[in-house]
Amino acid sequence: MHQEELAQILSFYQSRGAARDQNELVSLLRETQALYGGVIPQGALEEITRALGFRDSFLPAVLRRYPSIKTEAVRHSLTVCQGPSCGRRRELLDFLAKEYGAVPGGVASAGFRLQTGGCMKNCGKGPCVRWDGVVHTGVTPEALRALIEEK
Ligand code: FES
Repeated sequence: MHQEELAQILSFYQSRGAARDQNELVSLLRETQALYGGVIPQGALEEITRALGFRDSFLPAVLRRYPSIKTEAVRHSLTVCQGPSCGRRRELLDFLAKEYGAVPGGVASAGFRLQTGGCMKNCGKGPCVRWDGVVHTGVTPEALRALIEEK
């Protein structure tokens, strides 16, 4: 799907040096994301990797720094507040590890990247998490499950 358009995007950004220039590479990824309606399919990532001569590990490493770029394997980003005023944060991380095998810095098979972060400016209402850029307060393991499983 969209093979021709992807080839055009690739050739445009190849000519702009996307293999060496990260700004161009990120623009390429964002345009590819838009082409596929918001989520880059695995096949398109492989095509970009091949066309630009990257190692297999390169694009996943770049994508970790740009959580707004979604791929099939990583549709969501989840950050658990580790600020000192958010109680029960350990409970959330333990739940995520036990239920989804999620570790901070990693991608869970349920399709989200887990990170830990600093204060989300809602200290009185913790524990807090940020899910796809939106802060949720008073989060319980059940609330996390609902976000992850989109119930
Ligand atoms: S410490 Fe978590 S919101 Fe401030």
